[in-house]
Amino acid sequence: MKQFRMLINAADCTGHIEPEVYGHFAEHLGRCIYQGIYVGTDSPIPNICGIRKDVIEAFRQIRMPVLRWPGGCFADEYHWKDGIGEPAVRRKMINTNWGGVTEDNAFGTHEFMKLCELVGCEPYITGNVGSGTVQELAEWVEYITFDGVSPMADLRRQNGQNEPWKLKYLGIGNENWGCGGNMRPEYYADVYRRYQSFCKNFSGNQLYRIACGPSGSDLHWTEVMMQNLTPAHTDAIALHFYSVPEWNHKGSATEFTEDEYYTLLACANEMETLLRMHTQIMERYDPQNRIALVVDEWGTWYDVEPGTHPGFLYQQNTMRDAITAALNLNLFNRNSRRVKMANLAQAVNVLQALLLTEGEKLVKTPTYHVFDLFKEHQGGDAVYCFMENESLCDEKYVPMLSGSASVKAGVLTLTVSNASLHDEAKIVCDICNLDVSQASARILTQEVHAYNDFDVPDRVTIQPHPAELKDGKLYLTLPPCAVAAVTLQ
Ligand code: AHR
Repeated sequence: MKQFRMLINAADCTGHIEPEVYGHFAEHLGRCIYQGIYVGTDSPIPNICGIRKDVIEAFRQIRMPVLRWPGGCFADEYHWKDGIGEPAVRRKMINTNWGGVTEDNAFGTHEFMKLCELVGCEPYITGNVGSGTVQELAEWVEYITFDGVSPMADLRRQNGQNEPWKLKYLGIGNENWGCGGNMRPEYYADVYRRYQSFCKNFSGNQLYRIACGPSGSDLHWTEVMMQNLTPAHTDAIALHFYSVPEWNHKGSATEFTEDEYYTLLACANEMETLLRMHTQIMERYDPQNRIALVVDEWGTWYDVEPGTHPGFLYQQNTMRDAITAALNLNLFNRNSRRVKMANLAQAVNVLQALLLTEGEKLVKTPTYHVFDLFKEHQGGDAVYCFMENESLCDEKYVPMLSGSASVKAGVLTLTVSNASLHDEAKIVCDICNLDVSQASARILTQEVHAYNDFDVPDRVTIQPHPAELKDGKLYLTLPPCAVAAVTLQ
């Protein structure tokens, strides 16, 4: 047992936690869209307009605030007009990034907007800059959002959608330093300026324009973006960072040594340094905080499950993933002054998935349950939260605890994780500037290799947990390998 002191000052707001910090990402990759989300209208799997009912329900339960689509690398080879109109005659294409399989475009703009409507989340569309044209992207925005008479609005009506949709989040390309065109930042900055000029705010719709940001620690990319982009035409730049210690040896999702566990956590914890470094650059150019940092791809990335398609990125999800999810989400909360959105990669059947499906079966992963535990932070004010800590490893910094706190309508939410595999963490937390008389806690805890599968879907689930409040102090003991959420009011 190890003891740690914590201090929360509820009067010291460090940033507003936009709900979009709990965002998600669904790409045309492997079985994420097809089978995972969309099964078609004539499937025996219960669906609404071809979209799985169990998935809609699961997304709603964690209050999914935003969903990014159609990629990823797929976005920069996607031509949206191929995905509208009568499904049977939609043009097919090769999904060159993800297994070279045929994409039949059954799931397109209308299906995506329907999904977002059913889930109650904001759509976030990433436009094709790498292989598309300015006109193509401009017309997509017109098709979705214009309510008057115009070629694209008329086409939308012909396809059965009379009213325009609202579209807030628009990404101008994806990873344009890599799969999105291998551009230099100096070149991309101009391309971005050009593309966004033709994406108009129609019919009361207000676009939030997101530029491609850096890969991991590419500070030069951020510097050049901030030199060349202004708040007049840019709302955010998007960082991508995956927890992968070694790209050539990613390792198994379920079989790993203690040392490999620490190595992965140390890598995940680099997110803190990255947020600090990119934010510092942004502060120099934008001290008024008008351009946000969006982390629009994050998560763990392992070898695919044995016997599955190498291009489909299907991996299991253990308590190790739950611990890394908690670490990242606590970091986003703590950096919520600048970080206004973050999207886990990816929602179903791909990488650090929320949900896994097999035919009609569906499993909620440990990572899903972390999003459930953390959902009360959405829309709250992050408040000062100090905690004593120590490293689990001598060679690299692996924090034993991670935590963050927020206040919403007088209710304090504290989320905290214990990454140790051996020691309990006994936490005594001082709560200042908020009168609280009740504490209740929920916890996710299991052996670190534990996961949910189609035979045992509830091996890892949320349980109630004791939390005691005495003289303005919270007493909480976390077992090894645990993520907890405490509500104080
Ligand atoms: O999420 C998988 C891929 O990772 C995305 O398509 C791409 O943007 C990133 O490299």
